[in-house]
Amino acid sequence: MTAPTPLIAGNWKMNGTAASLGEALAVAAQQGGGRARVAICPPATLIQRMSAALAGSAVMVGAQDCRAEEAGAFTGDVSAEMLADAGAKLVILGHSERRAGHGETDALVATKVKAALRAGLEPIICVGETLDQRKAGDALGVVTGQVRGSLPPELAGKAWSVAYEPVWAIGTGLTPTTSEIEEMHVAIRATLRDLFGPEGAGPAILYGGSVKPSNAAEILHAAEVGGALVGGASLKADDFLGIIRAL
Ligand code: 13P
Repeated sequence: MTAPTPLIAGNWKMNGTAASLGEALAVAAQQGGGRARVAICPPATLIQRMSAALAGSAVMVGAQDCRAEEAGAFTGDVSAEMLADAGAKLVILGHSERRAGHGETDALVATKVKAALRAGLEPIICVGETLDQRKAGDALGVVTGQVRGSLPPELAGKAWSVAYEPVWAIGTGLTPTTSEIEEMHVAIRATLRDLFGPEGAGPAILYGGSVKPSNAAEILHAAEVGGALVGGASLKADDFLGIIRAL
């Protein structure tokens, strides 16, 4: 099995209007030649316009969440099929801001993963421990438990990735040490092999949480780190490009 193709994905979260499309265009214009696949996940309102703007470029557009059902009376929600129709190729699922702020459980995340696969979207499935869980020595158990609970067997044979995002590192400027990142990524890889057999060696395991141009090279070259899921530093093309080029 060859090493996973790295993926660098930007999660714009609830940021961006039409005026921000220039940042995505600047990334597309300048990111060429790197080893990584590159994606930007803007808010749902921008998916269609960003997909049109980036058509023909190497930068893929992704979504940040989906509803598991295909259609129906779910006011305010967006289905995986709708995201694909708007031009999304990937979707972030189980982000800690959804798990904490919207009560998303592993079981719900797993149903959303199945919905994404049904719509032909590539899921990026997020896991990560809180600071209290890390301090209690539970980080490995919590995260590998989230992996087991959030990844349905339907992923076999499909394209997907896992993103390890320690909750306490998101938007804080704090990052785990390189050896803490490696320890977690190795444990996630072992869990993926346990769940999917030899195929579990294929998906990239991204790191997310305060990745910026100045720390990207060290993080991206750590063992079993197959890319990054980038929040704040993905909003500005120059910062995001600095991370892409660090690989
Ligand atoms: P920051 O890069 O802003 O810490 O956010 C990480 C994140 O949550 C990406 O999904």
